[in-house]
Amino acid sequence: MSSITSDLKVVIVGQGYVGLTIAAFAGNFFNVIGFDNNEKIVSQLNNGISHIEGVESAHLKKLVKSENYFATSSGSDISDADIVVIAVPTPLTKDRKPDLTFIDAACKTIGENISKSVLVINESTSFPGTLRNYIKPAIEKYSPSAVEHLYAISPERVDPGRGDFNQKNTPRLYAGLTSEASEMTREFYSRFCDKLVEVSSPEVAEAAKLFENTFRQVNIALVNEFAQITNALGISVYETLDAANTKPYGFMKFTPSAGVGGHCIPVDPTYLASVAEEHAAPATFIRRANDVNLEMSKYVVDRVQADNGGSLQGKCVLVVGVAYKPNVADVRETAAELVIEHLRNRGAVLSWHDDVVGTWHGESSAPLSGADISVVITKHDAVSERDILASAPYVFDTTGKVKGAKGL
Ligand SMILES: NC(=O)c1ccc[n+]([C@@H]2O[C@H](COP(=O)([O-])OP(=O)(O)OC[C@H]3O[C@@H](n4cnc5c(N)ncnc54)[C@H](O)[C@@H]3O)[C@@H](O)[C@H]2O)c1
Repeated sequence: MSSITSDLKVVIVGQGYVGLTIAAFAGNFFNVIGFDNNEKIVSQLNNGISHIEGVESAHLKKLVKSENYFATSSGSDISDADIVVIAVPTPLTKDRKPDLTFIDAACKTIGENISKSVLVINESTSFPGTLRNYIKPAIEKYSPSAVEHLYAISPERVDPGRGDFNQKNTPRLYAGLTSEASEMTREFYSRFCDKLVEVSSPEVAEAAKLFENTFRQVNIALVNEFAQITNALGISVYETLDAANTKPYGFMKFTPSAGVGGHCIPVDPTYLASVAEEHAAPATFIRRANDVNLEMSKYVVDRVQADNGGSLQGKCVLVVGVAYKPNVADVRETAAELVIEHLRNRGAVLSWHDDVVGTWHGESSAPLSGADISVVITKHDAVSERDILASAPYVFDTTGKVKGAKGL
């Protein structure tokens, strides 16, 4: 492969939160092809319509118009790629094991359609060894010719919808299977990323990404347990955390919640636990943290029930905010799901309000009013504290943002 020049064709497999975000940055410097097997998304993207927070449709339109970007579902459109970035989902199977089927499908697309040597970079989150032992052999297996690609990893750290950190100013880890792959990866990202940090092997980069999210998962579980302790002691968890946070070193503040959601925190640590257990290493903290976070939904509903005469039977309960975090429409692994399940199991007449999400599971966002009980799971900026407090005579807030409500 030649060195990195602006006439290179960059194919990004997967045009979701990660893939489209990279496309929007890389499109300023390279010819970018967004490959996605969802034809509806492809058609929208080619009309300059973004479905991802943080990627402006106006910017996408500009890239489409200048022919620096187009989206496709057709494998033949990617055959003359120079760099291929993999950004497809890495979820868990039903029995909560790493699910690499999307990675496998991406490898098939690459193997079957690209016959010259390219640089393949994986940005999808997975366990250490995925690039070396899974992606490379899979692409080679699907490739009809014995082509030698370059392989590298650069785990994505984007936090969609975040204003202060983005692709440009978030340091990026990377490592290649060979020094040539590392060097080209550094050159590629240095066009649109300020700080690149090379590590000694792809496995270190893969493990670092998993550990970052495991660190958050474990600390969230710890503070969720702490919230239960402070409540039992009759003191405020928020005041106690603020007090602890006055220490200028050795403490990092996490806040309690109804559980963790999103594609990363509830999922990535399980990738680490799985690989640990495969190697007969302990993953007790990780497994327990996951359980504590999942059990928070029951704890929240227990508190709401206890405050309401010990029964929720027939009560109109409004869940406020079903997205997994504020100001995004993403409902993957949202804590609202389990809270709603517990409320329904206890006989509550349930509706939910979230105009950012709009529709979910075939249901529409209900008005923010007229409930017996409101339970706040996620507070979007556009929803006022006053309107939440007016929505029901009893409001339980799991976010710590609604002053005057009951809470954790
Ligand atoms: N969302 C985040 O905040 C975030 C942050 C860091 C890392 N990650 C990781 O990045 C990866 C991608 O996550 P995401 O949030 O962008 O997912 P996403 O669901 O938003 O997007 C994935 C896209 O890939 C497409 N796709 C699936 N299989 C495909 C295939 N075989 N070929 C082409 N397209 C395919 C889907 O249609 C979808 O548009 C995951 O490994 C995730 O853990 C996500």
